[in-house]
Amino acid sequence: MKNVTVIDHPVVQAKLAQLRDRKTPHPEFRRLLGELSLPLVYEATRDLPVKSRSVNTPLARTAGVALSREVLLVPILRAALGMLDGSKQILPEARVGFIGMARNEKTLQPEWYLDKVPSRLARFEAILLDPMLATGGSAIAAGQLLEKRGAKKIRFVHVLASRHGIRELRNYFPKSPITVAAIDSELNDIGYIVPGLGDAGDRCFGC
Ligand code: PRP
Ligand code: URA
Repeated sequence: MKNVTVIDHPVVQAKLAQLRDRKTPHPEFRRLLGELSLPLVYEATRDLPVKSRSVNTPLARTAGVALSREVLLVPILRAALGMLDGSKQILPEARVGFIGMARNEKTLQPEWYLDKVPSRLARFEAILLDPMLATGGSAIAAGQLLEKRGAKKIRFVHVLASRHGIRELRNYFPKSPITVAAIDSELNDIGYIVPGLGDAGDRCFGC
């Protein structure tokens, strides 16, 4: 699928299987989620713009690069909090904006409860973090907010996506790259990804 990258690395896939396992307790779930965010964010930022710089090693002067644009990480609460530390390990200077939304269990529509995203985003490379892309409603609403604030290109990073969610997201953001560890084929009648991993927020925080 165009603009969709599935990371099929064996270490990533082994950690994903542990994450899916219903017996994995919440401290371990959170650790795995954090570890999985590293390869996902590395891959999602593969095309970040860079500028040339030279660097003095202990032995010689050589050519190198530095990131040329500021990065904004935007985790969707709650579950994406489990992806933030891993992402910040790679991009320690990134700014962080927070979105709080929770799906209404009946309508499956996201309901907003927090918007702590800067008002002007044109200078940022925006990366939206959320472990689950199920119906796509939460990521689409979050992406629309970032776009309204001036984000030119939004990179979507998810651990698990449903086929349906990918299709929906691509309808709204056809050019945005989506990076995932796996795509599951089904979404059940209460909007859960199957086989999935259950409720990511509950599993991450234990309630
Ligand atoms: C989960 C998940 C996503 C959303 C995905 O959050 O972390 O934000 O569901 O579903 P969608 O693609 O159908 O919108 P949830 O709303 O359960 O909130 P929580 O993280 O606080 O548990
Ligand atoms: N949110 C989750 O946490 N899990 C799903 O399977 C779907 C939405």
